[in-house]
Amino acid sequence: MEPYQTTSPVEGRAAVTGVDADRFSFKVPTLRNVEYTYPYFHDGDARTLEEATDIMGRLQLGRVYEEQEVNQIVAFLKTLTGDMPQLTLPMLPPSSNDTPAPDPYADAQ
Ligand code: HEM
Repeated sequence: MEPYQTTSPVEGRAAVTGVDADRFSFKVPTLRNVEYTYPYFHDGDARTLEEATDIMGRLQLGRVYEEQEVNQIVAFLKTLTGDMPQLTLPMLPPSSNDTPAPDPYADAQ
């Protein structure tokens, strides 16, 4: 609903790929354990969950929350604290000397 205002110079994935289409492309982290993963947003600009919630409400939803509403949403976010899912990584097929070399950004050109 509103643009994100920042003076941060971070430019997202383009800093790695050099591809302009990747500018301002960021990975959004899980909200699991968000209580402990401050500061928030891609540039770490929001120091508290209250601040992040206020910003989310205004920027993403066009809503200005009362303090009590912010507190209730933050209380909900804190219910997301718990064990991280256990991930079992797959066994990849073996490589050999004849395996083609990786070219990770070939599709991004
Ligand atoms: C009341 C509703 C919402 C709450 C409480 C909320 C909460 C949050 C929080 C706490 C983060 C920070 C995550 C982190 O950095 O670890 C976040 C990030 C984000 N949320 Fe929301 N969110 C809400 C609604 C929305 C909506 C409606 C959208 C999209 C339509 C959205 C899209 C995003 C995106 C793209 C980010 C990453 C922003 C960045 O890294 O700069 N959120 N949200």
